[in-house]
Amino acid sequence: MKVGIGSAPGKIILAGEHSVVYGLPAIAVAISLRCRVESREIAEGITIDAKDLNTVSNYTFDQLRSLDTELADGTDSIALLVYKLLPDKNRGVYLEIQSDIPISAGLGSSAALAVSTIASVMDLFDLELSKSQISELAFESEKIIHGQPSGIDNSIATYGGLLVFKDSSIDLKELKQSFSLIIANTRIERDTKKLVSGVADLKTQFPDLINPTLKLMGDLSIEAINSIEENNIHKLGQLMNINQGYLDSIGVGHEFLSRLIWVSRNNGALGAKLTGAGGGGCMIALIRDNREAIQISDKLKSMGADVYIASMSVEGVRIGE
Ligand code: PMV
Repeated sequence: MKVGIGSAPGKIILAGEHSVVYGLPAIAVAISLRCRVESREIAEGITIDAKDLNTVSNYTFDQLRSLDTELADGTDSIALLVYKLLPDKNRGVYLEIQSDIPISAGLGSSAALAVSTIASVMDLFDLELSKSQISELAFESEKIIHGQPSGIDNSIATYGGLLVFKDSSIDLKELKQSFSLIIANTRIERDTKKLVSGVADLKTQFPDLINPTLKLMGDLSIEAINSIEENNIHKLGQLMNINQGYLDSIGVGHEFLSRLIWVSRNNGALGAKLTGAGGGGCMIALIRDNREAIQISDKLKSMGADVYIASMSVEGVRIGE
């Protein structure tokens, strides 16, 4: 029996989180942590077997046709996506998901799942879709879960590499050099909406201080792109450290994140910062080699974080492998 296979990467925000909300540029990069989906035809309905979460969800087509998308969760959105793609609505699909990307950590796990699901179903039924169609479909699916996503996550999961996001427009750039990273997940839940509104409050209270800081954060994104284009890893590390200072000053830091950041720096990381909304979630550290990675990773694990050694990834969606 034919098995469809698809996979897609997660992402980090390298620079520009929060200032991007005010129309300034942010940089997102695909990472080597991926989500992989296998699909098979079954007699009827859609079954989603999330191996990492140990959950199996079953949907009949009738259920899916009457599902209220306002109330739909992540699994529902994937089932709806598969249903939409089915060429023959008389046969069902069984999906098996395996993902390296931690969920609810700001690493784009839901977009990577949507994109890899599309890729897997395309492979299963020999469907032809362009990358922009894949990204658009995943964006629709992301809207069901996240309300008003920026479009960064589905784009990165589809195209891979690096992208600059500004004023709702996405500019894809070639990533010529892959840098190595440590990603540490505090597992502290963060509320992106609350953190974004906290910055807005601070901005209202201290406009003369916060507005220039946000502007500097946008400028820093441009410098960071230059450092990548120049393949200047030391400069990129310095910029990440400066960026962390700005993020702390707008109130989105967290004590545990700071401790992980300082331990990484003190053990040889070239730079370290939080990534995404902050207030918990993940930090990233830029590293030179594997020996250093293992040393830092062991230290961060002993502090209670979940640690991943990853690299920036050129590759986006993969179909059939
Ligand atoms: O936590 P993430 O990776 O979803 O990133 C949030 C980034 C913010 O700039 C804080 C919010 C946004 O919508 O851009």
